[in-house]
Amino acid sequence: MTAPDLVLRNGTLIDGSGEPRRAADIAIKGDRIVAIGAPGTLRGDNEIDVSGKVVAPGFIDVHTHDDTALIENPSMAMKASQGVTTVVCGNCGFSPAPYSGPKPAPHNLSLIVKQERFLTQSFAAFAELVEAARPSINGAFLIGHATLRYSVLGADLDRAASAAETTRMRDMLDNALSDGAIGMSSGLFYPPAAHATTDEVAEVAAPLGRHGAVYTAHMRDEGNDILAAMDETFEIGRRAGAQVVVSHHKCASRQNFGRMRETLPKFDQAMKDWPIAFDVYPYVAGSTILRKQMLDRADKVMVTWSEAMPSAGGRDLKDIAAELGCSIYEAADRLQPAGAIYWQMSEDDVRKALSHPQAMIGSDGLPLDQHPHPRLWGTFPRVLGHYSRDLGLFSLEEAVRRMTSLSARTFGLAKRGLVREGHYADICVFDPATVIDTATFEEPIKPAQGIVLTLCNGVVAWQGGHPALGGGGRVLRLQELKKEAA
Ligand code: ZN
Ligand code: CU
Repeated sequence: MTAPDLVLRNGTLIDGSGEPRRAADIAIKGDRIVAIGAPGTLRGDNEIDVSGKVVAPGFIDVHTHDDTALIENPSMAMKASQGVTTVVCGNCGFSPAPYSGPKPAPHNLSLIVKQERFLTQSFAAFAELVEAARPSINGAFLIGHATLRYSVLGADLDRAASAAETTRMRDMLDNALSDGAIGMSSGLFYPPAAHATTDEVAEVAAPLGRHGAVYTAHMRDEGNDILAAMDETFEIGRRAGAQVVVSHHKCASRQNFGRMRETLPKFDQAMKDWPIAFDVYPYVAGSTILRKQMLDRADKVMVTWSEAMPSAGGRDLKDIAAELGCSIYEAADRLQPAGAIYWQMSEDDVRKALSHPQAMIGSDGLPLDQHPHPRLWGTFPRVLGHYSRDLGLFSLEEAVRRMTSLSARTFGLAKRGLVREGHYADICVFDPATVIDTATFEEPIKPAQGIVLTLCNGVVAWQGGHPALGGGGRVLRLQELKKEAA
C-alpha cells in the first residue's frame, strides 16, 4: 500500500462505540480510515500531532433543517465548527422536495425554504442541487409529510386527506425513497398537518418498511397529551414497518415539568418490541414559528425573525408588545410571518432526557433565522463541555456515542459513526479540556471553542477556528447506504 494521505498522531481515540478511550494513531487515505495503530507507529505524507486531543468520529446531527443551507452556505460553518460531519435534514414534516404546491411556499414551509428555486418536483432534482453546491459536510434527507400535503391537497388544507390524495402522497414518498431519501418526517403539531388523521399518516408512510427507511415525528403533542401522542407515533411506525424516531423529546410547558418520569419508562417499554429512538437538544428553550397558541405555554418568548417587523429579531415579545401598546397576542399577529424562541422546559427534564442511554443528539437549529436559537452553533460542544465534562452527567465516551454510532445505526448511515478501518474518514478532533459552546440567546452566531479539526470524507471542513475550502460532503442516498451495510 502507498503511504496514507494523512496521519493523526498521538491522539486519544474515542471511537464512538462507547468503549473507553485509548492512545492511537489514525491513518487516512482518500475518503477512508485505512489504519489505526499504536501511538507513534503510523507514517503518512502529511502528519498532524494531536497529543492531548480527542479523535472521535464526526458528529451526526440527527435533527436539522439544513436542507437548503447545504446549498446556500456550503461551508456549513455553523455545523463544521461543532465537529458535525453529517446532517439529517427534512425534519418536522418540512422538506423542499418533492414539491408541487403553490409558490411562494406557505408560511410554515418558509421556515426552512426561503427561495422558490429550492422547491423541486422530485427529490432527485433537489439532491442534484445539493451536490452541485459541493457542501463541506454530508446530508441525509427525510421527506416531509406536510410538504406532500401542500403538494397534493391544494388550497383547502384544513381537513383530512381523501383516499385518493393519500394514495398520491404515498406514491410521491415511494418515488422519493427510490431517489435516495432515507425516510419520512411528520409534524402533526403544526397546522395544517395537524388535520391529518393517524390513518392518513400511516397510509402515506406505508412504503417506508419495504425500503428499510425511517419515520421521524415531531409529535402531535409534547405537552398535556404527550403520552397519547407517543402511542400515535409508535402506531404509525409499526404500521409502516419502520424504525421510529421521536424528534426533540421534551415535556413542554410548566404544568408538564417532571413528566420525563412518565415518558422515559414508556419509551423503555416500547423499545422492547419495536425499534424506537429519540433525539434531544441540550437547552430548556425551543424554537419554531411564532404562534399565538404557544404563548401561554412559555415562560418567556424571544422573536427570532419577523417579516412584518425585521427589527424585532432578538427581542423579547413582551417588550415589543409594550412598545406597540398592545397584548402579546396582538403583537404576535402583527409580526407575522415570524419565528420565536420559547422557554418551555425544565432543566431537570432536559438532563434526564440527555442521560437516557438511547438519546441521540440533534440540534433542531434553524439556519435561516435572523437571530437563531444558540443550538444552531452550540449543541454538540455544549453536550461535550457543559453536560459531560462540567456537570458529569455522563462520560465523554457516552457523550460521543450519542452523537455518532447510536445515530448512524438508527438512521442506517453505514460505515459512519465509528472510527474503524474501512469506515469513511468523517472525523472530529477536539480538545477535551476546552471544548464548549459560546453561542448564547443574546449572541447566537458564535463558533464553539475547542474544535481543532473537522474532516468529512477525508476532506478538511473546519480547522484552526475557520471553515476550510471543504467540498467533501455527499448526499447519503438510501440505496447506497443499504449496499454499503450489506
Ligand atoms: Zn420539530
Ligand atoms: Cu425540527
